[in-house]
Amino acid sequence: MTVRKILVGSLLLLAGGFLGSAQQAGIREVPIKNVDPTSGLKMYRNYCAACHGTDGKGTGPAAKALKTSPGDLTTLAQRNHGKFPAKYVHQAILGDAEPAPHANQGMPAWSGLFLSISGSPVPQAEVEQRAFNLTTYVKSLQQ
Ligand code: HEC
Repeated sequence: MTVRKILVGSLLLLAGGFLGSAQQAGIREVPIKNVDPTSGLKMYRNYCAACHGTDGKGTGPAAKALKTSPGDLTTLAQRNHGKFPAKYVHQAILGDAEPAPHANQGMPAWSGLFLSISGSPVPQAEVEQRAFNLTTYVKSLQQ
């Protein structure tokens, strides 16, 4: 399974080569950082912004190198009859969504990655806490 593969390496795909504008965007793997699970903002900036952009509009530095566009996270509520789809976002983050996430299309399944950095005696609870706080942050980005 993809999750196990990611767990072993504990790696995260991130953008490389975005320092100079002339350089082409590329994807490189970096070890995942243990960012404060209570801060949706800090986690978003560290884990998500490379692809989704700091504004959530899907134009992060790594986005161009992806096969699939990350989409626009600021219109999730708009696209769902004005109601923010919290459960969908939560599942999209953890990679529990049905149908199974397409890891090769660019969106990492975060449950395994978060599990791999957990120092909590109840790792699954910390994974849920991260997904919850990230979901709340994505909600705050809605137009
Ligand atoms: C390596 C690039 C990458 C990173 C990093 C990434 N995503 Fe994604 N994300 C994608 C891509 C590509 C898609 C669309 C295709 C798919 O669903 O697989 C997507 C889809 C999504 C969706 C569904 C959007 C929709 O319109 O239905 C949500 C929600 C989401 N990501 C949230 C996050 C959050 C929160 C993080 C950080 C924890 C994150 N993503 C990190 C690439 C990424």
